[in-house]
Amino acid sequence: MASPTSGKKIVLRIGGSVLGSPPQAKLLKGYVEVISEARKSGNSVGVVVGGGSVARAYIATAKELGLPREAQDMIAIEASRLNAKLVAMKLGVQRVSTTIQGMTIELEKNGTGAMGGLRPGITTDTVAAILGDAWRSDLLVKASDQDGIYTADPRTDKEAKLLHNLSYQELVRILGGGTHRPGIHSIVDPVAAKFIAKHKLTLVVTNGFFTSNVRKALQGERVGTLVS
Ligand code: UTP
Repeated sequence: MASPTSGKKIVLRIGGSVLGSPPQAKLLKGYVEVISEARKSGNSVGVVVGGGSVARAYIATAKELGLPREAQDMIAIEASRLNAKLVAMKLGVQRVSTTIQGMTIELEKNGTGAMGGLRPGITTDTVAAILGDAWRSDLLVKASDQDGIYTADPRTDKEAKLLHNLSYQELVRILGGGTHRPGIHSIVDPVAAKFIAKHKLTLVVTNGFFTSNVRKALQGERVGTLVS
């Protein structure tokens, strides 16, 4: 077993499809426990939470109402902030940051903090990546609804194989195609994939339905897919 990390800056991106579809109290408690352990080991943890099925329901309604894409994104951002608020309250930090600058100040002050969406045109994968870069984090962990990154989409391709190690070029080749659309569901969204590759952020993608995976990732143990 790898020795627990210490003194690291970690961005933990929790998929809304994992935590907020609908919000899961037991799972959320598990996440807060894992984050508290990482904090006790001397790490700082910035949490970025997605909007999940609630966000997608609002996107569908906004679309049906004929509202533009930007409005569909805006309403979804509100859903992610609601999920982030639950995490923030359970973490004891209360406030949900709505800017990267606000979040980095919070992280420098408290060693932890939570945020949801930032602005239209992206997903919280990209928010986590932007935060990771701005905060100069050591590690970005995506708690996904899949075990990691596959050679193809595992939901549609039964032949898809889980990849344990990935280069930045491979990340962009596999997940960097396409553009943003409201409600996009991807292991890592294309805008984030390109941002992570450009800024060379170390990324671990793991199955977030099991907090034991997330604990391992936060402790620097090998789990899921490592992009480096
Ligand atoms: P999320 O990033 O909240 O998705 O984006 P999620 O539920 O966690 O998804 P998984 O679990 O990774 O699959 C949902 C939608 O919210 C809007 C976009 O429409 C996005 O598709 N959004 C989110 C923004 O427009 N801007 C943001 O900064 C974040």
